[in-house]
Amino acid sequence: MKVNSPGASPGSNSRFPWDNFDPKKYQENNYKELRADDARILGHGVDWFSQVALWRYSGGKGRFSHGIDVGPGSNLYPTLSMLGYCRKITLFEYGAANVQYLRGEIEHLSDSWKPFWDVVSPSVGHRDFEWARRTLRKRATVVQGNLFSDLPKGEFDVGTMHFVAESLTEKPQEVRYGVRNFTRSLVPGSPFVMANVEGSKGYLVGDQWFPAAPVTATDVEWMLDLLALEKRVEHIDIDGPSIHLNAEGKPEVDYTGYVVSMGLSY
Ligand SMILES: C[S@@+](CC[C@H](N)C(=O)[O-])C[C@H]1O[C@@H](n2cnc3c(N)ncnc32)[C@H](O)[C@@H]1O
Repeated sequence: MKVNSPGASPGSNSRFPWDNFDPKKYQENNYKELRADDARILGHGVDWFSQVALWRYSGGKGRFSHGIDVGPGSNLYPTLSMLGYCRKITLFEYGAANVQYLRGEIEHLSDSWKPFWDVVSPSVGHRDFEWARRTLRKRATVVQGNLFSDLPKGEFDVGTMHFVAESLTEKPQEVRYGVRNFTRSLVPGSPFVMANVEGSKGYLVGDQWFPAAPVTATDVEWMLDLLALEKRVEHIDIDGPSIHLNAEGKPEVDYTGYVVSMGLSY
């Protein structure tokens, strides 16, 4: 019995052209500037990681040895939120164009990420953006893989996965497998931050449609009941123009907000 693989029926992850996901268009639409809602999600993540890092340091342990961001697409902020605390970070991405884009960003992080770094920096000794750029180059690696079949188990000791599990399929079961595989890739007791789009049924990147399965904060809470030792799940309101564009390229509010979760893997 294959329990990790998505199906092949319409709406499944495997039915969408992830290699055609356009990282530049996605970045322009979502991360050209720091939105207030993303600042809130990023701030929660940074606070959680710095709290757990403090517990580690006070318990005589050093930095996390290996972080993972699952499905970064063209979003570098989850990686930046872990950068100060990790010896190395794997950016685990499926889409070929995204992999290419991420390798370029690791080589030279674009200036547009500076406002995001400014949210992180106070918790890591006010290191400046040049430090982030240099350290990302040293510590980060991009690995191309499929989270349904290629994620190792119990390998990483800190992790992020933003807008991935619910935004790669129409199937609720694949959402659950995605969240399970993410938390299971972490050593038990590791801190993670996950973000989800709430109530989305799919989205356009340029003129390419990608799937989503609508989730609520309660759905996420129930999934994490089984997968996390400790957790906090919070709804975040949309604060800014919708990140979803219609066929004419106009923002369209066809989702209800975001969910951010902070926890420790089971
Ligand atoms: C909506 S984007 C989210 C990107 C980014 N994490 C963010 O915060 O905006 C969904 C991402 O999931 C990735 N993805 C889709 N199917 C995947 C799979 N089977 N394994 C790993 N990543 C996948 C896509 O390539 C894309 O980068």
